[in-house]
Amino acid sequence: MSNIVYVGTSLDGYITDKDGGLDWLQYIPNPDNLDLGWADFMDNIDAIVMGRNTFDKVCSFDCPWPYSKPVFVLSNSLTSLPDEYKGKAELINGSISEILKNINRKGYQHLYIDGGSLIQSFLKEDLIDEMIITVVPILIGGGTKLFGDLAKHMKFELLNTEILLNAMVKNHYRRDR
Ligand SMILES: NC(=O)c1ccc[n+]([C@@H]2O[C@H](COP(=O)([O-])OP(=O)(O)OC[C@H]3O[C@@H](n4cnc5c(N)ncnc54)[C@H](OP(=O)(O)O)[C@@H]3O)[C@@H](O)[C@H]2O)c1
Repeated sequence: MSNIVYVGTSLDGYITDKDGGLDWLQYIPNPDNLDLGWADFMDNIDAIVMGRNTFDKVCSFDCPWPYSKPVFVLSNSLTSLPDEYKGKAELINGSISEILKNINRKGYQHLYIDGGSLIQSFLKEDLIDEMIITVVPILIGGGTKLFGDLAKHMKFELLNTEILLNAMVKNHYRRDR
């Protein structure tokens, strides 16, 4: 079983800007529309566990549903998801450990954990096994932080580094327990 983070951050460690915007993630020109490893990553996960704010953001994009794997939306405030997401995303609630047990029991072992505060909650319980972090060379000065307070140091081993579009650095880390 593994829980994996796959995110893009600014040089100053944010995953959204102060307005919740993500446009800066694409400021490096990508004329050939390369997917930069996204499809390979998605092939290797079984399901996505997403915070409710990230789900809201994905729903606001003017594009078809971007995921081919089951999506579990973690929310303790919603009682249901809009009908149009039936068969695409499923609402779950409860503690992180209960949720994980539930999803693993359904047969999904390799999980993509997505959303700022959700990633931080997983890290607090030492439940993140790998992180793939692409750093975009821009300072955005504020927004949603990728990382937050932790009770202890957590070591990671570097598995791979790639330079994307001659501008961004993608680092793949594995938790060193
Ligand atoms: N740059 C990137 O690669 C990247 C990647 C992912 C997301 N994002 C962006 O980050 C923003 C969302 O991040 P976010 O930090 O605001 O929110 P988030 O982690 O996506 O969602 C947080 C929400 O998830 C629900 N939740 C339930 N249990 C939780 C728990 N134990 N821990 C954490 N959340 C729990 C809560 O919803 P309820 O209030 O409904 O209970 C909480 O408000 C979006 O704008 C998204 O587009 C960027």
